[in-house]
Amino acid sequence: MGRKNKLKKFAEITKFNNVFEAFELGDGKLYKNFNEKIDLKGKWRKEYFKNQSSIVLELACGKGEYTNAMAGKFPDKNFVGVDIKGNRIWKGAVKAREDNLLNVAFLRTRIEYLDSYFESGEVNEIWITFPDPFVKPSKANRRLTSLYFLDKYKNITSKDARFYLKTDDTDLYNFTIATVQSHPEYRLVSKTSDVYSGEYSDILGIKTYYERKHLLKGKKIKFIEFTRQ
Ligand SMILES: C[S@@+](CC[C@H](N)C(=O)[O-])C[C@H]1O[C@@H](n2cnc3c(N)ncnc32)[C@H](O)[C@@H]1O
Repeated sequence: MGRKNKLKKFAEITKFNNVFEAFELGDGKLYKNFNEKIDLKGKWRKEYFKNQSSIVLELACGKGEYTNAMAGKFPDKNFVGVDIKGNRIWKGAVKAREDNLLNVAFLRTRIEYLDSYFESGEVNEIWITFPDPFVKPSKANRRLTSLYFLDKYKNITSKDARFYLKTDDTDLYNFTIATVQSHPEYRLVSKTSDVYSGEYSDILGIKTYYERKHLLKGKKIKFIEFTRQ
């Protein structure tokens, strides 16, 4: 995508009412409708979704395929797609508006700062869809299922929260299993190293932009479910 097109999308999302942006990372302030400041920490249900339903996050959401598809299937839940890249979020936010999905929001921030924008216990479910594997050991902490991030997720999730990872990357798959099993406050529920080799649910069959690219290259899609305990 050309730089001009990206800049146009960055400017446009500032005016979308289903996108919230963190311009100063970690200061707790979010912005919508250009420069309207809004504090949603602990208030997503009351101030934005206007209901008491559960909140599901899609982390590294990119174009928000999981966020939008799940929101269509589960109108009784609220969905927030989180990514740092505004041009990708633009795509998801436009689709959510076209499909009239009122139970969808997008949050543009770094995932490291989630606890500035969600209160303890506010989130009930987290999907992590094809996150960057950060292969180099020196970058292991940046993997979205590292101990660093598992500790962060504890700060915003309910005690019975469920977590789902989809990845094409074997090292990240094995790393996540080991990390979850080593963490006293998380429990592995299920895992498969090849989702499409057997029966799979509708939800698991949702395909993201990156998933389609991996499948075209013949890669196997892996899935892990874990929970807090
Ligand atoms: C490989 S893409 C996957 C996008 C989408 N889930 C898909 O499957 O098509 C990884 C995404 O994670 C985002 N990302 C990686 N680390 C992040 C972080 N720490 N905070 C926010 N976004 C991050 C990137 O901006 C990118 O859009």
